Amino acid sequence: MKFQGSQNYVATQDLMLAVNAAIQLQRPLLVKGEPGTGKTMLAEEVAQSLGMPLLQWHIKSTTKAQQGLYEYDAVSRLRDSQLEGSSDKVKDIRNYIVQGVLWQAFTADQPVALLIDEIDKADIEFPNDLLREIDRMEFYCYETRELVRAKHRPLVFITSNNEKELPDAFLRRCFFHFIKFPEAETMRQIVDVHFPSLKGDLLAVAMKTFYDVRGLPGLKKKPSTSELLDWLKLLVAEDIPLEALQSADNKVAVPPLVGALLKNEQDVSLFEKLVFMNQRNR
Ligand SMILES: Nc1ncnc2c1ncn2[C@@H]1O[C@H](COP(=O)(O)OP(=O)(O)OP(=O)(O)O)[C@@H](O)[C@H]1O
Ligand SMILES: [Mg+2]
Repeated sequence: MKFQGSQNYVATQDLMLAVNAAIQLQRPLLVKGEPGTGKTMLAEEVAQSLGMPLLQWHIKSTTKAQQGLYEYDAVSRLRDSQLEGSSDKVKDIRNYIVQGVLWQAFTADQPVALLIDEIDKADIEFPNDLLREIDRMEFYCYETRELVRAKHRPLVFITSNNEKELPDAFLRRCFFHFIKFPEAETMRQIVDVHFPSLKGDLLAVAMKTFYDVRGLPGLKKKPSTSELLDWLKLLVAEDIPLEALQSADNKVAVPPLVGALLKNEQDVSLFEKLVFMNQRNR
């Protein structure tokens, strides 16, 4: 079982190496990187190319570890028990255990991939609460007094945007990979996957503007891969002429549709200032 990249996803050599190392070690792959560098998509693509179903667990600030295991729906049980002629269903507590993604992943008949997306959004206890489950691939359901143990070890992907530090004990159990921001050549391949028929000169100019914008010192939010893709999509849809993008043309202050790349007013005005200064120095 080896990941070799896929048609829709450009994986660098070191990323493929990391995925395969995690498979080999049977440890979760912890993926970090700027927003929009393909962390979530990686799990989808690996699962697809290895022919595994993907179970996704998107973490929010209110998510608790227990929800990934199971929840006991006491309210439904109470309501059912108050209905007239309450059935056998009420007597069996198992009918009110709602299985979480980990339970589903552990009991699936075939090996599955499991994505725990944006683990840093949860509270600080969340990763610690999952240590044993991730390590031993088992947990105990107190209500039904059963041990739920993985039939097949799922392939686990964990993504983080670094909003919170993860505990050392948790890190110890993972294989780590940081997706570096793609260099121009890799980026060109990524763009090619999404826009195979994009004109070469438009791409070259757009890429130059994009990396110039990213290189601005003091930018609050650097645009990333997904923003470049959005921008290109708009440029193509609006049929923006090549000249409009080249700031050598003094009439153009800021590239058109820059809202796809820069996401707050300070960054836009920083960029405007820079373009203005460039023009004066010319
Ligand atoms: N290597 C890549 N190959 C192809 N497309 C990519 C690649 N990296 C990013 N993309 C594009 O960027 C988009 C954003 O990727 P994704 O949602 O996986 O980012 P993310 O790292 O999970 O971001 P966030 O941290 O904001 O959740 C994808 O939908 C895809 O179109
Ligand atoms: Mg994501």
